[in-house]
Amino acid sequence: MDQRPVGVFDSGLGGLTAVRQLRQMMPSEHIIYFGDTARVPYGNRSKDTLLKYARQDLRFLRSFDLKAVVIACGTVSSNCMETLQAENDIPVIGVVEPTVRRAVEVTRSRRVGLIATRASVNSGAYQRLFYEMDPGIQVFSRACPLFVPLVEEGRFHSGDVVIETVAREYLRELREAEVDTLVLGCTHYPLLMEVIGSIMGPEVTLVDAGCESAYALKRMLRERSAAAPEGTVGDADYYASDRAADFERLGGLFLQEEIGPKVRQIDIEAY
Ligand code: DGL
Repeated sequence: MDQRPVGVFDSGLGGLTAVRQLRQMMPSEHIIYFGDTARVPYGNRSKDTLLKYARQDLRFLRSFDLKAVVIACGTVSSNCMETLQAENDIPVIGVVEPTVRRAVEVTRSRRVGLIATRASVNSGAYQRLFYEMDPGIQVFSRACPLFVPLVEEGRFHSGDVVIETVAREYLRELREAEVDTLVLGCTHYPLLMEVIGSIMGPEVTLVDAGCESAYALKRMLRERSAAAPEGTVGDADYYASDRAADFERLGGLFLQEEIGPKVRQIDIEAY
């Protein structure tokens, strides 16, 4: 048993979709979340910039005594995973591997769609892993660069004409490709589940990267006997690199629970 907290980070609020799952699946764990809201979105950045940002995010989180870190960001996971794992002496879990594993399990037609940020799609990390796990799978990928800013603006509800128009445009080719499984390879996208689900239709299974990373953490903690003692109630601390009030206002929608006035702003450039 290990009572130390788990660190989780993302470019902004998207990683809170992973925190929501984490808190449901492992209510005893203490979570420390950092959202780099001053520098979101990450999805169009170069690999060098992503690595610089991710190292700072990790350095901040590691100012706490953590037992593991979840990179609740498809963009960082697909571009920097090996480097960050090599540089850290605690388990670092990303979203790519668990998400691809789940999609391989659920697809029947072996025609899988991938939507993610431009940096994730261009890295080829998801596609490579699909090929390694099942060379017979056909992957159809589409970068959706407008999704993250729209979600961060709170424009993710069904019936919002802007998000629905953008989503229909992005998803057209994937519908035409007749995929039976669609990977939501960015942790902001679970907020769009309803919009995306209604465009893709009920026969397409949506695989949620945030949720899969939470399962991966649970498995890892169990294997290492490092879970927090059952019966204890874990807390969550939230940090952001921009205004705390903005995080508190929108973050509740991602978490589906009130955050309250407990977000602290930090200067990420100092790390
Ligand atoms: N939520 C992140 C991801 O999973 C980051 C998106 C962004 O900042 O562009 O890719």
